[in-house]
Order: sequence, then C-alpha cells, then structure tokens
Amino acid sequence: MVVELKCYPLEEFPVCYPKENCDFRKELRKAGVECVYSIGKREFKKFRFLGIGFRGVVFLAKWNNIKVAIKVPRTDYLYDMRKEALIQKMAYPIAPKVFEYSRSFIIMEYVPYPDISERISEPLPALKEVLRKVLDAAFTLDMKGIDHGELVRPWKHVLVGERAVILDYGSASLERKPSNLTSIVSGLLMKPSPPASEIARKMGINKAELVEALKLYKKNPSEDTYRIVLMKAHLLC
Ligand SMILES: Nc1ncnc2c1ncn2[C@@H]1O[C@H](COP(=O)(O)OP(=O)(O)OP(=O)(O)O)[C@@H](O)[C@H]1O
Ligand SMILES: [Mg+2]
Repeated sequence: MVVELKCYPLEEFPVCYPKENCDFRKELRKAGVECVYSIGKREFKKFRFLGIGFRGVVFLAKWNNIKVAIKVPRTDYLYDMRKEALIQKMAYPIAPKVFEYSRSFIIMEYVPYPDISERISEPLPALKEVLRKVLDAAFTLDMKGIDHGELVRPWKHVLVGERAVILDYGSASLERKPSNLTSIVSGLLMKPSPPASEIARKMGINKAELVEALKLYKKNPSEDTYRIVLMKAHLLC
C-alpha cells in the first residue's frame, strides 16, 4: 500500500523559521508553490525540514505539480539569496538544477540521494565508485571556476546516487581560486581522524604520494594532473 504524503498549506508549515510570519510566504505562493511536505532529518514544531542551517532552511514542496526542494533564508538571518542562486545555476549539473529564484528563495530540483556519510561503509568496489563520482564532481567545479568554500567538511553537502551532487553555494565564490578537489580529498581521505582515516585505510592509500599529487594539481589544475591525483587515490581503473 502506498501512503500519499500529506502536503501542508503554506500558512500551516513554518516556512518563516524560526518566526511565525514573514513577507516571503506570499511570494512563494505567487511563484506557484502549492504546499509543503513534512519530510527530512530536522524537526521544528512537529514539522520536518530537509535541512536547517545557520543561514537558511530547506524543505520539500509541491510546485507546478512536481516535488521540489526550496531554500529560504532564516528569518533571524535574512540575506539576499540571489548570488547563491546564480552560482548554483552555473554549477549545474554538479548542483541541483535551479528552477526559479529571488532575493528570498531558491526553488530547485529535489535530489533524493543519500548523503555521502551514509555511503562510505559500503564494500570497496561500491565505495570506489562513490569516491570517483565525488572527485569528478569537485574537479568539474574547479574547471568551471567556482570555489564552493565548504568542502573540507563534505558530509552534509554531498549527495551521491546516479551522480554526485554538491549542495549549498552560500559560501561559494567566483573570485577565489577554486580548491574544491583539494578540499574534498583532504576531507575524505587525508584527515587523521575518522571517517577519513578509515576510508584511507580501506583504500590502502599512501598519503605522502597523494599529497605530492595534490601539490602538482594545485600548481596546475588540469586533466593531466587530475589523473595523477586519481591514480594516487587508487581511483583510476
Ligand atoms: N536540492 C536538494 N535535494 C535534496 N536535499 C537537499 C537539497 N538541498 C538541500 N538539501 C538537504 O538540506 C540540507 C541543508 O541544505 P543547505 O546546506 O543548502 O542549507 P542550510 O544548511 O539550511 O543552509 P546554510 O548551510 O546555507 O546555512 C542538506 O544537507 C541536504 O540534506
Ligand atoms: Mg549548509
């Protein structure tokens, strides 16, 4: 039996988190948001969110008859979302596709994949596939000239399914030199504490050699130096 998920009217769901009311509730309705689903890992007043961060909150909603993820600023930290949305748009397909955005919301593709922390305990061949997708995504972002800015802590910002998706462009920049690949390799494989240390052990990685490869890549980010990183990470078939 398939149970239909209840979709709450915009007036009922706490889209103005953590306050009761906000101006953008009306804007969301005007943009075609029909209702909001209570689903996700974070809870507030008996409603569930996909995410509650220090700048924004994300929830699943129905828009133009499809399920979408919507990010809005927290009402105790109102910020203009347009820069984040523009960079996220450039980052597609590494980022979720942006359908519509304004100063106060990003309506985007809902990505139903598990986050990377749920996939690192998989057996070696599957783990390698996961890591390869993630490194390829980070390399693609580097080549696009986008620096994500928070990938040394990849756990909440990388979802992996058919493709690896990197979320949250709130700290991203087009001015900084991109360091997505070096950050993500450091976060996933180089840190001395678990889970990175555990992954590196499982993969049988020689950290000194990987560091040398990363230095080469950092000096001259290219397909060729990326291949050396992949080789030293034991991810080249
Ligand atoms: N498009 C999406 N599809 C599925 N889940 C998403 C999507 N966007 C965000 N999420 C979920 O919501 C969480 C929070 O997203 P995000 O990091 O963009 O916002 P935030 O943490 O609330 O805000 P910020 O970090 O900017 O303060 C993510 O870790 C992820 O689990
Ligand atoms: Mg975040």
